[in-house]
Amino acid sequence: MCGIVGYAGIRDVVPILLEGLQRLEYRGYDSAGIAVQDHGAIHVVRSAGKIERLQDKLAGVRLPGQIGIGHTRWATHGKPTELNAHPHSDCGGNFVVIHNGIIENYSLIKRGLQERGHRFKSETDTEVIAHLLEENWDGDLVSTVRSAVSLLAGTFGLAILSAFAPETIALARRGSPLLLGIGKNEMFAASDVSAIRRHTNQVIYLEDEDLAIITPSSYEISSLQGTPVRRDQQTVEWEIASAEKQGFSHFMLKEIFEQPEAVINAMRGRVLDQDGTARLGGLDTVRDQLRATDHLIIVSCGTSYYAGLIGRYIIESHTDIAVEVELASEFRYRNLNLKQGTVVLAISQSGETADTLAAVREAKRKGVAVLGLVNAVGSTIARETVAGIYNHAGPEIGVASTKAFVSQLTILYLLALLLGRERNLSISEGKQFIAALQSIPGKISQILAESDAIRDIAERYAVFENFMFIGRKYNFPIALEGALKLKEISYLHSEGYAAGEMKHGPIALIHPQFPTVCIAPQGESYDKIISNLQEIKARSGPVLAIATHGDQEIARLADDVIYIPDIEERYSPFLTVIPLQLLAYHIANFNGREIDEPRNLAKSVTVE
Ligand code: G6P
Repeated sequence: MCGIVGYAGIRDVVPILLEGLQRLEYRGYDSAGIAVQDHGAIHVVRSAGKIERLQDKLAGVRLPGQIGIGHTRWATHGKPTELNAHPHSDCGGNFVVIHNGIIENYSLIKRGLQERGHRFKSETDTEVIAHLLEENWDGDLVSTVRSAVSLLAGTFGLAILSAFAPETIALARRGSPLLLGIGKNEMFAASDVSAIRRHTNQVIYLEDEDLAIITPSSYEISSLQGTPVRRDQQTVEWEIASAEKQGFSHFMLKEIFEQPEAVINAMRGRVLDQDGTARLGGLDTVRDQLRATDHLIIVSCGTSYYAGLIGRYIIESHTDIAVEVELASEFRYRNLNLKQGTVVLAISQSGETADTLAAVREAKRKGVAVLGLVNAVGSTIARETVAGIYNHAGPEIGVASTKAFVSQLTILYLLALLLGRERNLSISEGKQFIAALQSIPGKISQILAESDAIRDIAERYAVFENFMFIGRKYNFPIALEGALKLKEISYLHSEGYAAGEMKHGPIALIHPQFPTVCIAPQGESYDKIISNLQEIKARSGPVLAIATHGDQEIARLADDVIYIPDIEERYSPFLTVIPLQLLAYHIANFNGREIDEPRNLAKSVTVE
């Protein structure tokens, strides 16, 4: 969703802001803008639409200055127009604000400000902050920011310029991520490290209720309530190249091809071959709780939720733990029995998803141990959970999650192995489990080598407007994920169903223009899914099957088949998901969609 970048230093600020904003594009946005501080005069340039339009507006404009802030906006209050784009200013033009988050009491504040003579130029919630700064100005930027934000309800990550403090950017955080980047004679601010990674790998993650002031040569952090705070400086471990396309036409395609590596990285240092078990160092502090628990609740959203559903099958089949998987957005509405010993696991690629974070906080409030499975190091969920595991998948830029998903699966499988070995799983079963996991990267590579053949199949299917995806057991969540991938990036109607549910309604949809993708690898559920496939064929529905190499029978029944290498059914989701990602990618490409930044979607959904 919205993105923030800021710079205070010795270089020309406009190119640094524009490059930073481009690096934030992947998060989803619909307008953009920058503000540049030039000896007490602040110049603002904004535009609706993509950053290229902002660049066009800036072409030929001289905007000198070494201090500035930039923003990509994902509209919440007010349409994605230029007037609603950030930065927003007060009446006098002395305070300029960019904001991520939502100010819940803005309409009340706005009414009061209007009554006191303030003139509003936008429909946004953000603009009230600029006017509040104007109204509360007391000659000191820090105390003015404190007074102004004390009136706000809701969430914010703020970056503020003031004509009265020309060397300075003020930053404040409550519920929306913000970090500082430390350079030599220059300081950066951003909502996401990718915006500034090119310039520095030294960062400080701000926490909720932090207020920071940066100048080219210094930073100072205190709380919004006025007490000084210390935050540790951290080193970002990934290189900027991993946030670039490296010859691929889209980030999504690059990330699909990075999946063998994502599995390897998730396993690195975490497998104890001799003992047939896993070692997840981040969980050492909660080992006793994990050994004792018989109840695990997984909370997550989107693709991370589907990873959690597969986690349920694998953990339940290797332990005596009852696993519930709950959509984070629904968690608060459940009156779940969080008895002593229950463990909650939040799964989030970004570590910033507002619903997942709210579920984490709610579970903590109820007094149970809350763990995190997170890709983005230093993110809010990583910091607010008592223990956790990082994916080490590197930055995922494409909005449609791919490599983070297989990485999440890898870690959930390692967790199942660890929990199983601490219960009844034997050492030899543990060793077999490890051997199977270690075979996965090579098998994913074999499927990726078929990308062109999958593209040819996708071309034939790109003409359809409705799709059904069905699977059973481990591949039921893969059906959901396949349908999600397709709808996210191609905007085609697609539904994922447990194959057994077809006869309870969805089969009514089947006709010659409504294809079904049938996930049917060899295993326990094979015969039943073949029956489902035949029911669809009997109603003239086209069928594209995902099946195991050597399956001749399915080739006779289905219209098309994409084969995966032979693997035991419980590990098959690692493989069956790959052709579905490629299918979605190629169908979206044939339809000319904006694959990495699909309409209306955001990479990290920071509003509830
Ligand atoms: C957004 C993204 C999805 C992602 C979901 C959960 O909707 O577009 O790709 O699966 O959020 O994100 P998280 O970062 O919590 O895994």
